[in-house]
Amino acid sequence: MWPSDANSTVFTEIGLLFTADPEREEIRDAALVAENGVVRWIGPTAGAPPADERVRVEGRAVIPGFVDSHAHLVFAGDRTDEFAARMAGRPYTAGGIHATVAATRAATIPELVSTTALLVAEMTTQGTTTFEIKSGYGLTVEHERRSLEIARQFTGETTFLGAHVVPPETTADEYVELVTGPMLEACAPFARWVDVFCERGAFGEDHARRVLAAGREAGLQVRVHANQLGEGPGVRLACEMGAASADHCTYLGDADVDALASSGVVATLLPGAEFSTRSPYPDARRLLDAGVAVALATDCNPGSSFTTSMPFCVALAVREMGMTPLEAVRAATRGGARALRRTDVGALRAGSRADLVILEAPSYVHLAYRPGVPLVAQVWRGGRRLV
Ligand code: NIG
Ligand code: FE
Repeated sequence: MWPSDANSTVFTEIGLLFTADPEREEIRDAALVAENGVVRWIGPTAGAPPADERVRVEGRAVIPGFVDSHAHLVFAGDRTDEFAARMAGRPYTAGGIHATVAATRAATIPELVSTTALLVAEMTTQGTTTFEIKSGYGLTVEHERRSLEIARQFTGETTFLGAHVVPPETTADEYVELVTGPMLEACAPFARWVDVFCERGAFGEDHARRVLAAGREAGLQVRVHANQLGEGPGVRLACEMGAASADHCTYLGDADVDALASSGVVATLLPGAEFSTRSPYPDARRLLDAGVAVALATDCNPGSSFTTSMPFCVALAVREMGMTPLEAVRAATRGGARALRRTDVGALRAGSRADLVILEAPSYVHLAYRPGVPLVAQVWRGGRRLV
């Protein structure tokens, strides 16, 4: 955090302000006032009111801080060899998760806190100001609970993913009993969300429904890993259960797209996973044209998507998934907020949290136009400068 006593900051000479607010999405030659952590005023630089401190943006672009609504940050070990084998032609399977579970169980709490902190720092320097963290690499009552306790040190958006895979020491039926019983009881106090990996090789429809229903009963809100590796029941289950978001959505039938469009469940697309597993990308164009709400997130995890970079995901979404740069940046900000049912972040309007990124570029389009280039010049969260 950069030291400052200022309660209010005026950002002037913003070349292009992308607000992600549908009322007024793009403003040229703009200014913005943040006061006590909240956006107070947006308008032309010429009319900007005074504030304790002034930041001259010098014609560069400003966007809301990214909202990364899907990340698995609490883990130990890495899976370099598995990635290299995939790049030599081996397919991705859910089974790789077991290697990370073994390393995570063997790690100490300080080790897990410090690796999580490093990943959070990576996210921050790349412009992410709100992020979700899932458990799912512990798979015992104690290891899942401690993962969520660690996650809670970094974010309020914590997700209980005890139902990630069935650990080898038990059967699926026994494990679902554990997840919906003692594990849920131990984890719910540290979680806002419940999630399940509904996929061949992980949890089938009936088990997934039980996990989500039990989580909901315990006061958690629902999100689902769905249709990542093939078509299946995940997306429709997410819609049936009133999930905030169905995540991955790589393989969709027409009925899945219809269910998403009519339910308002957000389709959270995770192109880092397709990149790192060399899989076909989800068809964002089809979803957008059907009226589905779309979010972009990193899915940061050591197996299928070891990236913390929202700019990378934006570039992939534009190049590989049929999104325009505007749609992709919108999905990475307002879309992510919607996937987390948050109205205070993901857009810049009077009253929203003053989370913003100054880009070393005249337009947000450069996030896709100049892929791989570090364009994040400054990051502010709650009116305080972080980067
Ligand atoms: O979202 N799909 C399930 N979970 C992660 C991958 C986990 C892993 O391979 O370690 C995902 O891609
Ligand atoms: Fe995931």
